[in-house]
Amino acid sequence: MNKISRAEVFARIVPLLTELVVDSDLEDWEGDVSEQTLLIADLGLTSVDFIDLFVSIEKSFGRVIGFHDLLMVNGRYVADLDLGQLSAFLTAKLNAVGAEPGRVADEPCLHSDPSDGVDAETFAAFRRIIPAPEPWARCATKNPRALFLLSAPRSGSTLLQTILAGHPGLFAPPELHLLWFSDLRHRRAAFYQETNKHLLSGTIRALMQLQGLDVEQATRVMADCEARGMSVSDFYRLLQDQLDGRLLVDKTPSNAYSPAVLRRMEEDFAEPLYLHLVRHPGGMTRSFVDAKLERTVPFMMRHDADYSREQFAELAWLTCNQNITDFLRGVPAARQHRLSYERLVSAPAETLRGVCDFLGLPFHPDMLDPYRDKQQRMADGLQTVGQMSGDLKFHLHARIDPESAHRWRRFMSEDMLSSLSWDLAGRLGYSRQGAVAASAVA
Ligand code: A3P
Repeated sequence: MNKISRAEVFARIVPLLTELVVDSDLEDWEGDVSEQTLLIADLGLTSVDFIDLFVSIEKSFGRVIGFHDLLMVNGRYVADLDLGQLSAFLTAKLNAVGAEPGRVADEPCLHSDPSDGVDAETFAAFRRIIPAPEPWARCATKNPRALFLLSAPRSGSTLLQTILAGHPGLFAPPELHLLWFSDLRHRRAAFYQETNKHLLSGTIRALMQLQGLDVEQATRVMADCEARGMSVSDFYRLLQDQLDGRLLVDKTPSNAYSPAVLRRMEEDFAEPLYLHLVRHPGGMTRSFVDAKLERTVPFMMRHDADYSREQFAELAWLTCNQNITDFLRGVPAARQHRLSYERLVSAPAETLRGVCDFLGLPFHPDMLDPYRDKQQRMADGLQTVGQMSGDLKFHLHARIDPESAHRWRRFMSEDMLSSLSWDLAGRLGYSRQGAVAASAVA
């Protein structure tokens, strides 16, 4: 295989960048760049422009590159990147041994390792390290109905949220990260680290949309609510009062780590609705490991030496799906609906008709094109990559991609999953051959 040089890579990136910058109408662009040119500070790229650039690079080189390690270093999103860093990263990926067109370069295949196993004891110990949410005061009057999207992380929740955001009867902002807290002041105090402060962005994006504000204005409104110590339930009410009859959708996967947080949905809202989005534990585990997500889960930071990345991912799948299943057992059937990521991406129209029937809403064709009107759907991030919450990979797709359902099988054997995961997966409609049982998932 011929090696490609860094200079050649740089020369191939520049025209792609030129095209992107011209398309985005960025100011002060004179097409004059060097290895030192910074993508955000010098060229004014936003997080979504980054993703567009990565997509066009992958297309141009005909390879899936996997940019996560470039964007996240030591558990933090980088604040900016220069063209030299991008070229060096890309050169290394393209020249990696075994790199082939259409394959992620440099990615190890995961194998079963008994020392990485998950059993009842590990599962119980893992659940014990998950902290309790802050105690909150019960609200005198419940907030109006809301729709909660419940899932483990890496289950396609950003995709589903953006799909729902395309329905005129729904308001589905990025992850809100509210229910673990009693009030907004405490929430602000908890999300102060480089690795988690991006979790504050969903509420700001929601305010921008509802009140027609820019980032600075919405950040000031949020800061004012935080300074007043506004309760989380009052903040939900503030959002809901501005919805003109639309139903609020809250997708915050970390809610599912805690049974108490799930119960709070019933306590604070009038007859809320629930969508349980399930994904094969193998697909979720592979995705979680790939995104190195354990680094951003606040309660894990103290325990990162205790678990392998694969163990942590599987324990997260088990914990969240077990908590959701237990919780929904106490909720009337008419207020809950289960769907699988695999069917969502392989039969989206049929799956989404099922969701609309459940919600009592007419099906809307815009739901099938989640990349349309990204701004209207609040899928445009704030200003920098560091401010994005949710799934960066959402932006690396250009449509609902059926291939994604089973891609993980190239890198991981389903034999490495524990019998605990198989038991629960079986109850959620998955069988060992990877087929999804039609009876269990809508
Ligand atoms: P992979 O990492 O397996 O690719 P979440 O939003 O809950 O974190 O889920 C992330 C997963 O959803 C990722 O899975 C991501 O690729 C997948 N996803 C995002 N957008 C998608 C799309 N348009 N089509 C199919 N899968 C998508």
